[in-house]
Amino acid sequence: MPHTARWSLFRALLERFAATLDAGDLRVLRALEALRESYEYVPLELLELKLKMPPSHLSRSLERLVEMRAVRRAEQGVSLTFRGLDALAFLHLKRRGYIARLGERIGAGKEGDVFLVELPEGELGVLKLHRGGVRRFRKMRRYRGYAAELRGDRLKLAVLTCRREHWALEQLSKRGALVPRPIARSRHALLQEYIEGVELYKLREAGEQEARELLLTALGTVRKAYLEVAIVHGDLSEYNVLASNGRSYVIDWPQYLRVGEPGAEEALRGDVERLVRFFSRRFSLDVKAEDALSYVRGIRGEL
Ligand SMILES: Nc1ncnc2c1ncn2[C@@H]1O[C@H](COP(=O)(O)OP(=O)(O)OP(=O)(O)O)[C@@H](O)[C@H]1O
Ligand SMILES: [Mg+2]
Repeated sequence: MPHTARWSLFRALLERFAATLDAGDLRVLRALEALRESYEYVPLELLELKLKMPPSHLSRSLERLVEMRAVRRAEQGVSLTFRGLDALAFLHLKRRGYIARLGERIGAGKEGDVFLVELPEGELGVLKLHRGGVRRFRKMRRYRGYAAELRGDRLKLAVLTCRREHWALEQLSKRGALVPRPIARSRHALLQEYIEGVELYKLREAGEQEARELLLTALGTVRKAYLEVAIVHGDLSEYNVLASNGRSYVIDWPQYLRVGEPGAEEALRGDVERLVRFFSRRFSLDVKAEDALSYVRGIRGEL
């Protein structure tokens, strides 16, 4: 199936969840979510006990949910899937009035599914559904600790990375950094401001002044993150910066490292060097990585 067709089906599916799941179905999903802590597969008897639902209602509900692939069935019991978690998060945000309509899937995230959404007042927002990818965490020594603790639980990891990104965006936007403002979060779903712009790697032409301004605004955010929030992005490159009205917005923060934690200084150096190298190659901008590094560390006041 072509890529876009697959995603418009996914969109239709989420909207169908919103339209067809009843209160009982949602109670079942929420109970399965709560019981994930203790059970990989929740035994049916336990679910009945917890929900105090007539067995016939429960089994009808489960049938619907399995058919929609929001729930997986096995011999030992039933278990929530990513799609079930998507439904819970999407419905939560929609019913609380944060989302009017789900739009196109944008970007080609390897670790998250990113959608345009229409906000209630008609403006655009972005909904990022985290997928618990581990690729980007490889560099993060602390991830080994997470991985052990989570025992490969992708749903839990997705919720954790989403919480981390939400926190980082909150701290950064509170301090006026150029990042998308977070609007709301539910589980592994983060709703944020839409930045109308283009990823740096797609930007073919820019005058010297413009290129300089783009690099300086990106480094300004890296500096604020380091000096005021005490975090390092850790995956900064021309793929995670959007150029908008001549200024850079840094996106995609879940893998941040805290200043002082092992690997943070190396990650900062890597972030700055990649960015400076990109501007030098693409736009022949003459800025030294060492100077940029002193700037983001606050050793020099300007660049
Ligand atoms: N707030 C936003 N405004 C506009 N576009 C956005 C926004 N957030 C994400 N995007 C688009 O979605 C793409 C993927 O977003 P992001 O980098 O946050 O997700 P990801 O899944 O971590 O991606 P990857 O694994 O490719 O780095 C971005 O490259 C960008 O095109
Ligand atoms: Mg990205």
